[in-house]
Amino acid sequence: MSLSADARRIRDERLTYLTPDKLNRLEGTLRETLRLDVPGDVLEFGVALGGSAVLLAKQATAAGHRFAGFDVFAMIPPPTSEKDDAKSKQRYETIAAGESKGIGGDSYYGYRDDLYADVIATFERHGLAVDGQQIALVKGLFEDTWPTAGSKSVAFAHIDCDWYDPVKFCLESVAERLSTGGVMMLDDYNDYGGCKTATDEFIAANPGFRFEPGVNPIIRKVVN
Ligand SMILES: C[S@@+](CC[C@H](N)C(=O)[O-])C[C@H]1O[C@@H](n2cnc3c(N)ncnc32)[C@H](O)[C@@H]1O
Repeated sequence: MSLSADARRIRDERLTYLTPDKLNRLEGTLRETLRLDVPGDVLEFGVALGGSAVLLAKQATAAGHRFAGFDVFAMIPPPTSEKDDAKSKQRYETIAAGESKGIGGDSYYGYRDDLYADVIATFERHGLAVDGQQIALVKGLFEDTWPTAGSKSVAFAHIDCDWYDPVKFCLESVAERLSTGGVMMLDDYNDYGGCKTATDEFIAANPGFRFEPGVNPIIRKVVN
């Protein structure tokens, strides 16, 4: 399956870490969720350079839904749980040592002076006005910002924040407000052990949600 023009553009501009397969599934799953008229906001936890967020915001606003992206817009917080695997901890060590490379040889996004301003400029370049209402980019730790900036109702959440603690926090926080038929998509389930453990634990504890495997697995709310 070939990429959409929007997805091709964000890859050409080196704005996303998602592979073509993940981008296709992200766009396709969101399209289907909105086509079924599932009510609520479209969210992303883990925006980084804004690539996948641009795709989500375009579809969301075109269908009359609000988009909000949450991130520290700075260096990624460390993996702090004993449930994070060695690969996660090594990846963070490389980043913290200032040795991480960016996409296609660019400088790593976490080392930029003002990533938040860069992402707003990226949204504007892609025809998306970050007005704080229909499109919001919320800066800070999820754990700090969600209680006041969080959504009342959620149709779709892209959870792309790598480690055990933030993935667990996002799953539990969003699940409380997820509409029936709504979806949470896990970008890192097949990449980082902490994300997989947090997801498996959530599914085991929450029978009203169905796990659908894939490159970026989905948790769908099936029972109210
Ligand atoms: C892999 S990147 C997101 C990639 C992006 N979605 C893309 O299209 O390439 C993960 C992001 O999650 C953010 N993040 C991780 N834990 C966080 C937390 N607890 N609060 C806020 N942001 C967090 C990091 O700062 C980083 O920007």
